[in-house]
Amino acid sequence: MKRDILYVDDELENLIVFQATFDDYFNVVSADSGQEALDLLATRAFPVVVADHRMPKMTGAELFEVMRIKFPHTKRVMLTGYADSKAMLSAINQGHVFHFLKKPWEQDVVFSILVRAIEAYDMGISNMMLQDRLVAADRCAMLGRSAAQLAHEMGNQLCMLPLLELIEEEYSQHEDLVRMAGFARTTHERLVQIINEVKAFVRFEREQVIAQPVGLAHVLHELVEFLRYERNLPLARLSVDINAEPWAKANRVKIQQVLLNLLKNAAFAIRDRDTGHVTLRLSAAGDEAVIEVIDNGCGMTEDVVRRIWEPFFTTKGEEGTGLGLDVARSIIEAHGGTIDCTSEANRGSHFTIRLPRVESASEIKPREPAPPITVPVGPFAQPLVPQVS
Ligand SMILES: Nc1ncnc2c1ncn2[C@@H]1O[C@H](COP(=O)(O)OP(=O)(O)OP(=O)(O)O)[C@@H](O)[C@H]1O
Ligand SMILES: [Mg+2]
Repeated sequence: MKRDILYVDDELENLIVFQATFDDYFNVVSADSGQEALDLLATRAFPVVVADHRMPKMTGAELFEVMRIKFPHTKRVMLTGYADSKAMLSAINQGHVFHFLKKPWEQDVVFSILVRAIEAYDMGISNMMLQDRLVAADRCAMLGRSAAQLAHEMGNQLCMLPLLELIEEEYSQHEDLVRMAGFARTTHERLVQIINEVKAFVRFEREQVIAQPVGLAHVLHELVEFLRYERNLPLARLSVDINAEPWAKANRVKIQQVLLNLLKNAAFAIRDRDTGHVTLRLSAAGDEAVIEVIDNGCGMTEDVVRRIWEPFFTTKGEEGTGLGLDVARSIIEAHGGTIDCTSEANRGSHFTIRLPRVESASEIKPREPAPPITVPVGPFAQPLVPQVS
């Protein structure tokens, strides 16, 4: 694929010559003033800008000075008609020019400079990405330490179990009370499990999660049952469409964790809309099970959609950590599946999960014990889905 070069010159004939010379190697885009160049740079990224120094209104050196601040990664190559040492000096001092070229230029020389400039640009971008990852890694380490402390303290507070056992024994004739105590007990057990997961996560262990054939309809029903206790997503605003009953080799709790993250995001997206609605749909397509979470909420712009899978990316300020979708994707990919999103600002969002289908458990005879799959431990946004035995 040809790379983009932005050529800035107020003289049309120079532009024609430059374009004709390099058209086979680069995609040469032109601008006839510094301002037009800046407008173009605001809409898309160019690895290299070649600009004539002598231009009315904004000189090449002035253009480069602005670019150095606003588009620091783009490499700047300056052209000048004669040995203008003053221009050269000010360009070098103010604009940090990648290279300075004297007219008339030679094709080979310019070509190799452009190639080097593109290489330098690519290296700059990958350095920047590396730095971002380092910052994210630092934040993760910090978060890990806080999580470990939090898990430790939470563990200390989990002393309800004897009380629940007492209720179950003493009030065994009160069915409602025993049922609620049972519910509290499973939640309690689940909390202990989460705390252990957090501790394992901080120790960089990866949890081995057993994946076995599960009926996804059952997994969804169980989750919806739990949502009765989720205040942020009133059931009146949720439709559950079970169009098929596919099975997948999966860890029930992890899949519920993913869906809960998606449903919480959808609930957040519709929270200010009177007609806001969320659909959770299960279907089958060929050898895949398909789970969709669809909302008609605030939706996202293209720029947001591109970034939603990045860890720590959130548009919710203090209300979000930006980890929900990162965790969701790791879990789905560990299951050999995919998760995608389409969205339109002000119209809503549509998340689609595809998991490889398996035969239902009853059809698998004789059945080997399911091998464990390694699923990243997500200490974040872990749902308290009761374990229904
Ligand atoms: N259904 C949706 N509608 C609109 N925007 C969404 C939707 N789902 C996700 N997003 C966008 O994606 C971003 C990242 O989502 P993600 O679940 O990873 O983090 P979060 O919800 O911000 O925080 P948390 O870690 O608490 O889940 C959100 O901040 C939001 O901008
Ligand atoms: Mg979220």
